[in-house]
Amino acid sequence: MSTANTGFAYRNKTLHAEGVALSRLAETYGTPCYVYSKAALTAAFQGFDAAFASHAHLVCYAVKANPNLAILNLFARLGSGFDIVSGGELARVIAAGGDARKIVFSGVGKTSHEIRDALNAGILCFNVESPSELDRIDRIAGEMGRVAPVSLRVNPDVDAKTHPYIATGLKENKFGVAHTDALALYRRARGMKHLKIEGIDCHIGSQLTETKPFTAAVERVISLVEQLNADGIELTHIDLGGGLGIQYQAEAYSCSVEDYAAAILKGIAGRSEKLLFEPGRFLTGNAGVLLTRVEYLKRNDERNFAVVDAAMNDLMRPALYDAWHDIVPVNNADASNDTLETWEIVGPVCESGDFLGRSRKLALKEGDLLAIRSAGAYGMSMSSNYNTRPRAAEIMADGADAQVIRQRESIAELYANEKLLK
Ligand code: LLP
Repeated sequence: MSTANTGFAYRNKTLHAEGVALSRLAETYGTPCYVYSKAALTAAFQGFDAAFASHAHLVCYAVKANPNLAILNLFARLGSGFDIVSGGELARVIAAGGDARKIVFSGVGKTSHEIRDALNAGILCFNVESPSELDRIDRIAGEMGRVAPVSLRVNPDVDAKTHPYIATGLKENKFGVAHTDALALYRRARGMKHLKIEGIDCHIGSQLTETKPFTAAVERVISLVEQLNADGIELTHIDLGGGLGIQYQAEAYSCSVEDYAAAILKGIAGRSEKLLFEPGRFLTGNAGVLLTRVEYLKRNDERNFAVVDAAMNDLMRPALYDAWHDIVPVNNADASNDTLETWEIVGPVCESGDFLGRSRKLALKEGDLLAIRSAGAYGMSMSSNYNTRPRAAEIMADGADAQVIRQRESIAELYANEKLLK
């Protein structure tokens, strides 16, 4: 299944989010703004869930991809669990009506405070990333008179073949415990009074577009599970992390959720542990666009620049990873080939790295609206206030309706916590 175009389509030559014209949203709420499709989010979740229907499983949405309360609430209603990496994300999930008993807590730097909050909330499992963390959780659980559910996050040392910043399953990465150390650490955990071993966990990277690295990781994880079983350690679940990629460019290959599921189910055939997954990007990435308006067109000897009102602070992925996002006109009434020119789509931020798209063939005039596609994951969640730019509004389209799910920040809010010197 491709999620590439779900939720967004042209009607009467205007790009719509479900039944709502993006031009109308721009008039009403201003730009830049993020627009999501509830139907697309729902379809992505249900597609993922259905692909694993034949095996007991729990989808734990990776909150970091897009932590808006409305999105968490939607997934919670669909039955989702959550993968969190901070106390902040824990609070969001609870505020959004998520079930704490379906939360897994990942991350290499859990503070004592965060561990306490998670134990108090009664989460499903800690994905433990180091021996010191294991000791810390055991100690805190003991102080609280609790037993902490744990998995070890193992680093299977497989190459995810993705951007180096978002590969996590290689020896050189900071994540997890080495495959070779895992058995000894499980034995140690078994002897700890305030821990209960629940499972095993791995996450090898993000935006993976082929099944091979997943297959390799499952193989390595299962071989460890077999060693654990031989040692008398039984697991309730196997958490295979997130990482399934999406299509950012129409022509680029991506692996379908069905292919992904088939590869994994083959790897775990005959096993009875429940499967956990932590997809982020796959569930939200193609369900959102960043809507922006062209402020100025300027040309020099080398290039044509379209300066738009969104910037790297709104969508950091192009600047940080050189990531490609399709950029399309909201109104394509006059997009005949002879008016197309090549544009650098840039923001107002004072950095040469502030681009949203390079060498894009578009027919542009000042005031035009553009939609930056596939911006539903790691868009708003990685935004900042750089250059004292208020963060964009977020809007959810639902059929013929649209609702603001996060108001645009005001400028006063941006420095409300700052103080003049005495
Ligand atoms: N589980 C763990 C432990 C993770 O670290 C991540 C992502 C996920 C699940 C979800 O991965 P996904 O299904 O979304 O690939 N900012 C980058 C992506 C960073 C991903 C970090 N970890 C980007 O914009 O491409």
